[in-house]
Amino acid sequence: MNPLFSLLAPTNKGLWLPTAATREAGRTDTLFYFILGLSIFFFVLVVGATLLFAIKYRRRSAGQKTADIEGHRRLEIIWAVIPAALLVLIFAWGFTDYMGSTVPPGDALEVRVTAQKWSWSFDYPRDGINTTELVVPVGRPVKLVMSSMDVIHSFYVPAFRLKRDVLPNRYSLLWFQAEETGEFDVLCAEYCGTNHSRMLAKVKVLSEQKYQEWIDSGGGMSGKGMSSVEFGKLLFKGQGCTACHTVDGSRLTGPSLLGRFGAMETLADGSQVKIDDNYVRESITQPNAKVAQGYEPVMPTYAGRLKEGQLNALIDYIKSLGK
Ligand code: CUA
Repeated sequence: MNPLFSLLAPTNKGLWLPTAATREAGRTDTLFYFILGLSIFFFVLVVGATLLFAIKYRRRSAGQKTADIEGHRRLEIIWAVIPAALLVLIFAWGFTDYMGSTVPPGDALEVRVTAQKWSWSFDYPRDGINTTELVVPVGRPVKLVMSSMDVIHSFYVPAFRLKRDVLPNRYSLLWFQAEETGEFDVLCAEYCGTNHSRMLAKVKVLSEQKYQEWIDSGGGMSGKGMSSVEFGKLLFKGQGCTACHTVDGSRLTGPSLLGRFGAMETLADGSQVKIDDNYVRESITQPNAKVAQGYEPVMPTYAGRLKEGQLNALIDYIKSLGK
């Protein structure tokens, strides 16, 4: 494709608006382009008239006098009434679309969204699934019930033209109906601390059949047919551990886990503790009980979010990273 054209094409990388993957996104874009067109029209009109009059009525000789103009009632009424009518139109149009996108249909599939520094997690209460990727079927309304475990975050999916604050003390709602399958970015749109820019996730829109298969597989998190270490690795990524911990020795918000199992850890008070099964387990379920020296006690608890088998798999994976 011509590079200039690909820059303007509606993809997630171009200059233009990203793909509109829901019907509501299409409606939002239509209103956006209407306002943009209107703004361009009036910009050209006003700037054009300014330039034209500046040239036409420029001073041509010293001592030149302009006519004494009092006003023009009819013109003034016209240029007040037309913009006012346009503003009322934009308001009514925007309000209709806003209400349509705010009130979810009664039969919507419900997913709970939990934000915490610095990851997203998604619960499917009917199917007992907890993931860090939002997986939804195409062509069905989905309702998100969102809350935060700590500070204010904001759930943002550019391809759906959806953004709403996620608060610690109440639920906020959103709904959408995806019209095409694919993978779309989820971002946090409210500055929430050090790793705000890394607080990313994906929305996966699947066909109804693929979605059912995904539900039947326990959201791909049952660990069926894999070794405990493989399952642990999947969870390590899937549960968002990678936002704060590397496995290559480099330091993020939390310590790297490379070659740590079996070693001694120095805690904030200078005491030492051996990194064994019990210490790793406690660090996942009560992260701030024994914090390693030089690190902030900022890790959220995973107690209640991980099942017994998942905890064991994570410990096995960390063990496999060597001494
Ligand atoms: Cu969460 Cu920014």
